[in-house]
Amino acid sequence: MSAATRRLLIAGNWKMNGHAADGCALARSLAAAPEDWAATLLICPPATLLAPVASVLAGSPVALGGQDCHAEAAGAHTGDISADMLADAGCTHVITGHSERRAAYSESDAVVRAKAAAAHRAGLIAIVCVGETAAERDAGKAEAVVTASLRASLPDSTRPENTVIAYEPVWAIGTGRLPIIDEVIAVHAALRAVLGEHGAAMRILYGGSVKPDNAAALLAPPDVDGALVGGASLSAADFLAIAGAA
Ligand code: 13P
Repeated sequence: MSAATRRLLIAGNWKMNGHAADGCALARSLAAAPEDWAATLLICPPATLLAPVASVLAGSPVALGGQDCHAEAAGAHTGDISADMLADAGCTHVITGHSERRAAYSESDAVVRAKAAAAHRAGLIAIVCVGETAAERDAGKAEAVVTASLRASLPDSTRPENTVIAYEPVWAIGTGRLPIIDEVIAVHAALRAVLGEHGAAMRILYGGSVKPDNAAALLAPPDVDGALVGGASLSAADFLAIAGAA
C-alpha cells in the first residue's frame, strides 16, 4: 500500500471544550456537510458528550473517538474510562499518549503502550501520539526522541487496521508555530521506518496549529496522511475547510 491508497484522516480533538448544546450543534454541522471528502472525518469530544454526539452522528460518515482510555477494561479506577466503555458509547477510535496527558499525568511510553493495547482489545483504532519538545528540537534530537518514543509506545498488537500515528511537536500545539514542511517530511519518514513491515499501510498524521490557511501545505507531502486538529476543530467551518484541503 502506498500514499495513494492510505485514506487520509482528519481528526478533531476537542480537548476539554464543549457542553451539550454547542457540542451537539457542532457535530450536527459536520454530519450535515456534503460527504465527498477525500478524507475520513473523526471527532473526539470530551467524555460527557460522547453519548449525545454519537446520537447526532448516527448514520453519518463522521466517526467518533475518545481522547484517552484506561489500560484495563473495568475496575476500581475512579474517574477513568476504559476502551471497552468508549466502544460501548459508539467510539471507533481513541487518542492515546497525547502530549498534554504525557506532561500533565506523567504518562510514560509504557503506559501509552498499555493503553493502545487496551484499545486494540476493545476493537478500537488507537491514535498513538508522539512529539518532541522545543528543547529537544533545538538540541537536534527531534527524530531520535520521537522514533524512540514510538518504538516504546506501540504494543505487539499494532497493525495498520487498528493504529494511526500522530506526530505532534509539543511546541507547535496551540502556539501557531509550525515546523517547516521539510522537517515534517523528515520526521514522518523516520516514524514510517520504525513501523517496519506495517509502515507502508499505516497512516501518520501531523498535529500542531493546523488551520484552514496552512492545511493544504501541511497535507501535501505523500508521507502526511492527515491531521490531528485541536483549536480549529471547535469551528465547523474551520474543520470542514481543513478537511476540504485534504
Ligand atoms: P492545536 O491544533 O490547537 O494546536 O492542537 C493540536 C493538538 O494537540 C491536537 O491533538
